[in-house]
Amino acid sequence: MCSILGLDSDHDVAPDLVKSLKKMEYRGYDSVGVAIKNDSSISIKKGVGKVNAVNNDLQMDKLSGHMGIGHTRWATHGKVTPENAHPHMCSTNSIGVVHNGIIENYLELREDLEKNHGVIFKSTTDTEVIPNLLKIYFEKSHDVKKTIMDTVQKLKGHYAFVALFNTGELVGVKNHEPLILGIGDTDLILTSDVVGLPENISSVVYLENNQFIIIENHKHKIFDFTGHVAQFTIKTLPKNYQNVTKGSYKYFTEKEIFEQPDSILVAGCNDEHLEKIADVVKNSDYLYLTGSGTSYNIAVIAKYLFSRYAGKKAEHLMASEAKYSSQYIVPNSTLFAISQSGESADVLEAVSIGKKKNAKIISMINSENSSLARESLYSIGLNCGPEIGVAATKSFTSQMAILYKIVDNLCDGCITLNFKIISDAYKKILSDTSTIQELAKSIKNIENIFVIGRGIHYPIAKETALKIKEITYVHAEGIAGGELKHGPLALMDESTYVIVINPDDDSYVDNISTVNEIKSRNAKVIGISNKEHPSYDYWIQIPTIAKAFYPLIEIIPLQLISYYLSLERGIDPDYPKNLAKSVTVK
Ligand code: BG6
Repeated sequence: MCSILGLDSDHDVAPDLVKSLKKMEYRGYDSVGVAIKNDSSISIKKGVGKVNAVNNDLQMDKLSGHMGIGHTRWATHGKVTPENAHPHMCSTNSIGVVHNGIIENYLELREDLEKNHGVIFKSTTDTEVIPNLLKIYFEKSHDVKKTIMDTVQKLKGHYAFVALFNTGELVGVKNHEPLILGIGDTDLILTSDVVGLPENISSVVYLENNQFIIIENHKHKIFDFTGHVAQFTIKTLPKNYQNVTKGSYKYFTEKEIFEQPDSILVAGCNDEHLEKIADVVKNSDYLYLTGSGTSYNIAVIAKYLFSRYAGKKAEHLMASEAKYSSQYIVPNSTLFAISQSGESADVLEAVSIGKKKNAKIISMINSENSSLARESLYSIGLNCGPEIGVAATKSFTSQMAILYKIVDNLCDGCITLNFKIISDAYKKILSDTSTIQELAKSIKNIENIFVIGRGIHYPIAKETALKIKEITYVHAEGIAGGELKHGPLALMDESTYVIVINPDDDSYVDNISTVNEIKSRNAKVIGISNKEHPSYDYWIQIPTIAKAFYPLIEIIPLQLISYYLSLERGIDPDYPKNLAKSVTVK
């Protein structure tokens, strides 16, 4: 996903635009650009790379003008080149556009614009059709509102864009992709993410689908796509979403890992929502859980927790696979959608499929104003604060904690939850990471690694492999312990490393047999356990706690292994290449 911005003020906007783009860089960091209106001309500066590097090179923040737009890109259409960076201008440079999402019919629009309007395209993006369409309609009507209504009739796909007119209008258009208005004393800002808002702005309006907003003369008006004036609600942003910084930490990923002793204590602490969600789960004949990436691994963990402690059958459904395999969703089904951002396009598509089949939609999200929250009958918030590091960490443990709370509700407190014990275990592990740092140093040149776990520890192995892939670029595979001998064992030799998630529970004995099978092929074993064992080449100790809770604590040293390995390999863990915090395109 990309980040889009528009800012209208009574002072030069370029410095604030660049600062806000920096805050939203986790949404996409292939290229960056701004366009600023000064008098009746628009100046544009854009380049490939991250905000600070491009700004040092091009001095984007030195442009003068009180109205402007900005963008950071996660490439979907067209290579990562300066020409494909946003903003994109129309053929007369009178209108500039920044865009997030996909214009599905851009090729036919492009062909028509080239053939019938002589437009010469400068980029290979889908976006560049938008400013050129706007120009054609504006030249016809000289009315910005009419221009937008005519243009959106032509566009297909899920998108949001902000357009800057050299006649003095700033326009934001929302069709599925997030768009928020921030209202300050002298500033009006349009953004795809509240994290991008300047510190002094806490009043926000979340635009609804098929709405657009026109800002001119420091005033704004919101319309729906048929041109009717739309009502809106001004909300106040929670304090922890304002001015998110790393504090004393080097990276957001490190900060978010070390925030978990606190975030675990407040996960999903809205009991009323939790009750409602537990009720829907209790009364549904069929329960499906869906998500992408880390959130999908939570859906798999749910299957084990619901079956083991509540005797409830729960099916996990990979969101991006939902359209190929959801024919079995029947009435009185519940689709429990899990998404940190609440904006992942694959998850929203799975939800729309579930809705068409009359399934009840409940969700777990980290942004109560996200699209997924709006699509849900009930949703429960993680309450862990903004997560900036692209690799999910604290959101994962908060998602897991909420699952434990729902299951405990379903089995009338059979798990005896005590998150203080978990929080203390986190503090213990985080208080001394020297062994893990040593391990990361000694394995920094590996190219492959396997992670195994049995039962509920299998999805933890999958999550660990995902973290390692995301932020260290080492090929990692998460495997069910019992499956190793049915194939992957062929890859075991003296150069192979295997992380074995092996707390002292009912999977322990079987895992030790697997460890010995691995050792007899001279591979190296990294044991994650509360119990030491002579077969481990490396032992990462975790505190001994009630067996039910090992999944919640064993993930911490595994996150740390990924984090310190990324540092050893000279990688910025916050912005791994080719990824984005959540992907709002299919
Ligand atoms: C990816 C992120 O883009 O999306 C992952 O890099 C994340 O960390 C996945 O797990 C799903 O995101 P979300 O917001 O739907 O949980």
